[in-house]
Amino acid sequence: MEMRLLFLSIFFSSLLTASFSERCNPKDKKVLFQIKTSLNNPYHLASWTPNTDCCDWYCVECDETTNRINSLTIFSGQISGQIPPSVGDLPFLKTLIFRHLTNVTGQIPSAISKLKSLQMVRLSWTNLTGPVPAFFSQLKNLTYLDLSFNQLSGSIPSSLSSLPNLGALHLDRNKLTGSIPDSFGKFPGAVPDLYLSHNQLTGVIPKSLGDMDFTRIDLSRNKLQGDASILFGSKKTTQTLDISRNLFEFDLSKAEFSIELISLDLSHNKIYGSIPEGITSVDLQAFNVSYNRLCGKIPVGGKLRSFDYSTYFHNRCLCGAPLADCK
Ligand SMILES: *[C@@H]1O[C@H](CO)[C@@H](O)[C@H](O)[C@H]1NC(C)=O
Ligand SMILES: *[C@@H]1O[C@H](CO)[C@@H](O)[C@H](O)[C@H]1NC(C)=O
Ligand SMILES: *[C@@H]1O[C@H](CO)[C@@H](O)[C@H](O)[C@H]1NC(C)=O
Ligand SMILES: *[C@@H]1O[C@H](CO)[C@@H](O)[C@H](O)[C@H]1NC(C)=O
Repeated sequence: MEMRLLFLSIFFSSLLTASFSERCNPKDKKVLFQIKTSLNNPYHLASWTPNTDCCDWYCVECDETTNRINSLTIFSGQISGQIPPSVGDLPFLKTLIFRHLTNVTGQIPSAISKLKSLQMVRLSWTNLTGPVPAFFSQLKNLTYLDLSFNQLSGSIPSSLSSLPNLGALHLDRNKLTGSIPDSFGKFPGAVPDLYLSHNQLTGVIPKSLGDMDFTRIDLSRNKLQGDASILFGSKKTTQTLDISRNLFEFDLSKAEFSIELISLDLSHNKIYGSIPEGITSVDLQAFNVSYNRLCGKIPVGGKLRSFDYSTYFHNRCLCGAPLADCK
């Protein structure tokens, strides 16, 4: 008898929990079901069921105080289709992530422009096409924008430089064309880490970028030309600089480098002159000047000793260890 009462009370209290203590906002729940339907009810979202609290579901998070959905993270599942425009109806979203989803295609929906609280957007390792939307520049709280590893085409919207809080911009591994916007030398807040590699960008690096002190910048594997030495400078605090596999053509002889540099890749360009002595006082962990048009004796000392011939080979007339002796 007591046992039965106990069971009954457990039964009723769990019913009460189910019906009365749901944190989930009903508007958000409705939108999440629209998203699930748009994605053809994938197994990945199997926990999204009507009789459960959406704050407990997979791939989403609720704000502690408002209980509104503030994060949607869909990572690496069997998901096909387009990014549902209904994501734009989760007005409290701070984090929006679709990542490692080969079969997610189509364009980046403009509905995302409604999400003014967004801080982190990662739509990457997907198969998105179309342009990099300029509307991201209206999402002033963005600190991290990653659209890398897609099939995005067209040019880079210059208005992205108006984002005041951007810490990193990843547009690498796409099919972007045109030049680097002049405005990228004028970010109003902190200077973001800039990743534009593996695209088809052309033209010269705008002079304005020389005024920026990038901590990390990767322009590798594009078709950029001209002088890239404006990114160097002893007053900068750059740690990682990769301009490899472009068409850059400038004299390296008088270059001065940020003392903070950890990684410097200048390989596969048309850089001429000699390697400046100053490089020996930089604590480099990675260094590559191969496949250029450099000449003269390789400086001796510092970290340079730790790099083998492949750091230097395929130049016009570099000499000295680890290459052949100078004549
Ligand atoms: C992507 O779609 C193809 C063809 O429909 C299918 O064979 C493959 O399993 C899908 N991959 C994923 C990760 O969903
Ligand atoms: C994009 O789709 C193609 C096939 O349609 C596939 O080979 C490729 O791996 C996909 N890309 C990504 C980043 O998943
Ligand atoms: C943007 O961030 C600021 C500072 O954290 C916050 O006060 C503001 O409400 C945020 N704006 C939106 C639209 O969420
Ligand atoms: C330097 O770059 C060349 C060309 O990409 C590559 O073959 C070589 O292994 C690299 N060496 C080092 C030390 O990174």
